[in-house]
Amino acid sequence: MVRRWIKEGEQSGKLEGEKADVGHMVNEEPENLMDTPPDESDAVRLARLADLLAEPLPQSLLRTHPNDVVLNDPPEDWQEWWQAPPEWISAITDPKTLPGSLARLLHAIRALRLTRDPTPIHNPLAPPTTKGMSPKKQHEVERMISYIRDLFVANGLEPSAVRIVDVGAGQGHLTRALKGHFPDTQILALDADEGQTIGAQRWQDKKTDGIAHRTVIINPTSLLDVVNEWIQPEPESDVVVPVLFVALHACGSLTPDILRAFLLASRQPPATWKPFGVVAVGCCYNLMNPKDLDLPIAAYHLAAQIPDHWLVPSSPTPTPLASVTLAIRKVAWRALLAKAIPHAQLSTTPVPTPASNPNKSATVPARWSRLPTLEPAEVTRTGETPKLRRLSRLRGSAYDNWETFLRVSSDRLGLDLHATAIDPVVGRRVELLHVLRCLLGPAVESTILLDRLCWMQTALQQDKNSPHVRLVNLFNQATGSGRNVAIVIAPEIAS
Ligand SMILES: C[S@@+](CC[C@H](N)C(=O)[O-])C[C@H]1O[C@@H](n2cnc3c(N)ncnc32)[C@H](O)[C@@H]1O
Repeated sequence: MVRRWIKEGEQSGKLEGEKADVGHMVNEEPENLMDTPPDESDAVRLARLADLLAEPLPQSLLRTHPNDVVLNDPPEDWQEWWQAPPEWISAITDPKTLPGSLARLLHAIRALRLTRDPTPIHNPLAPPTTKGMSPKKQHEVERMISYIRDLFVANGLEPSAVRIVDVGAGQGHLTRALKGHFPDTQILALDADEGQTIGAQRWQDKKTDGIAHRTVIINPTSLLDVVNEWIQPEPESDVVVPVLFVALHACGSLTPDILRAFLLASRQPPATWKPFGVVAVGCCYNLMNPKDLDLPIAAYHLAAQIPDHWLVPSSPTPTPLASVTLAIRKVAWRALLAKAIPHAQLSTTPVPTPASNPNKSATVPARWSRLPTLEPAEVTRTGETPKLRRLSRLRGSAYDNWETFLRVSSDRLGLDLHATAIDPVVGRRVELLHVLRCLLGPAVESTILLDRLCWMQTALQQDKNSPHVRLVNLFNQATGSGRNVAIVIAPEIAS
């Protein structure tokens, strides 16, 4: 898996319009990484995870969409269990009742996945302002700035001597908190989305003034270019400034691109600055360049699932959170509906046109495509024919009961679905199938994270005075921060 990642990295390092030296950097990677494992336990765990995910049962789960309603080739020992499927929660709370093949798979996942308990942080810093932040964001910003303080201390660095680049800064909550705590540190905030940059600048006040902003689509070379432009040589000074790259939920391939830029700058040091370190938490693996890792498409979505936090904490009996029950019901009912749609009559009532949402969040267009376009050329837009009307997102209350769901769906789709009966056995199978797929999520995310770690360990090993690289559980998943792992690079890693 790692080998493939690095080899493909040779191509994905070079993006359209980039200079050739990015490819040159990655070409220096050894051909066979498994011959020289960087850290045996990480590399071995990664290899085992990759082998596990390549086995027939997880592959079948990953490749079956719940809407297909049936699992491709369920193993033989499933027959009885699948004929009379239990409630989905038993897959989590009652592993003894599972067929052997499934119990073994779930056991192997638990043994191999990364642990996700948050690293202890003493004397956490509070963000100077929490304006505009959700409680989840507050938690993340607080932990991240505190960790960065600890990193400076561990490396004996005065914050004022370092420059910080916040990559994918969004509305700038992290950037401003850093500026608030390190007022003498020069900070550059980067985002591809002009709206985000404008929003981030609007939030600034006197206390957090002095942050530089740029709107730029980041890839390894554009990141280096923008930093080079930002750090101009001082007259009559040969000071080389250490630069820390930070990223809070850098989506898709933005995280590996930051790592690529770090390697490039380490190997071909710019005149005015040197890369000191990285603290980057990734997210949205489904936006990754497909060349960065070769897993089935569904795996990237499932990587976001955190089934360890699906139950009400400290409840005397295992009880799923209401939000989890709703999410699982949504998948099952939509799958059951999909089965009924081909047989439904057109409704006589006109279909209201859904309003567009002017407040949608930042979108950076993916620079690569995972799927071929499915729409035939003569059909222009969703909604123009009843067949193409989409159910889209429905309010939670639409799932209160089956009748309400049918009524809302009939209205939305322009079809008469009111008489569709619910099939409890098929419904339970779809729910179970979805839950089993979600249980693979932590194994998938561990694979992605370890892949990045082993790649960087190997790449940095080749450099003299190479910094350390480690995965640090920065956030507490129980607070809703599912993507809680930072890849940290620094001469000394704060623990
Ligand atoms: C999940 S948001 C996180 C925003 C912010 N760091 C926070 O935690 O609130 C990711 C941000 O990265 C930006 N982004 C994604 N890919 C990018 C790229 N290739 N270049 C620059 N910005 C990018 C998006 O516009 C978005 O604002």
